Amino acid sequence: LSIVVLISGGGSNLRALLEASTDAQYPARVIAVGSDTDASGLAFAEEFGVPAFTVYPSSFDSRAAWGDELLAQITQWSPDLVVCAGFMRILPPRVVAALSPNLINTHPALLPAFPGAHAVRDALAAGALQTGVTVHIVDEGVDTGPVLVQQAVEVRGDDTENSLHERIKVVERELLVQAVLDIANNRLALTPNHPDSPRSST
Ligand code: GRF
Repeated sequence: LSIVVLISGGGSNLRALLEASTDAQYPARVIAVGSDTDASGLAFAEEFGVPAFTVYPSSFDSRAAWGDELLAQITQWSPDLVVCAGFMRILPPRVVAALSPNLINTHPALLPAFPGAHAVRDALAAGALQTGVTVHIVDEGVDTGPVLVQQAVEVRGDDTENSLHERIKVVERELLVQAVLDIANNRLALTPNHPDSPRSST
């Protein structure tokens, strides 16, 4: 299974996928890494010898034009799957339409709880006793696509946003690597959600 991973930041989830794909038994390969910024995580692509591309929103006069260029850069690699791992942009509708359902995202909360860019902070602020990680198919909404897999993470009384996010990321890396493995092995189906089908939260 060939994968393009999109990042915006530190790339620890990307690194987990890169490390997994060094195992000959792991049936997925990261073939390129994309970003919207000079993400520090791009260093992992270099370290693992994986090509990287950056498409800066500021270079375009509209979100749609930025999305079209990002899509062109992604599709030139003909990936089987695109993984958003800490990618902090909303993909324009044309990009989602072209890639989904072979387009997944990892989110540091138990969706539909705490969608958006500040999920960990929001869970803490809400006094949640438990939050977690969700890997889901990306649709046109923000963190609203069909859930593929979730895992809970406890919130501790002395947690800061950072300590809680770090504990979430430990679970997240494992959940994402496993989800990609299950997709590669057809144990996890990337089917767009139909109103009549139950939400797959296995
Ligand atoms: C991850 O927890 C991701 O779910 C969230 O931001 C974090 C990115 O971490 N959107 P990294 O860039 O993979 O280290």
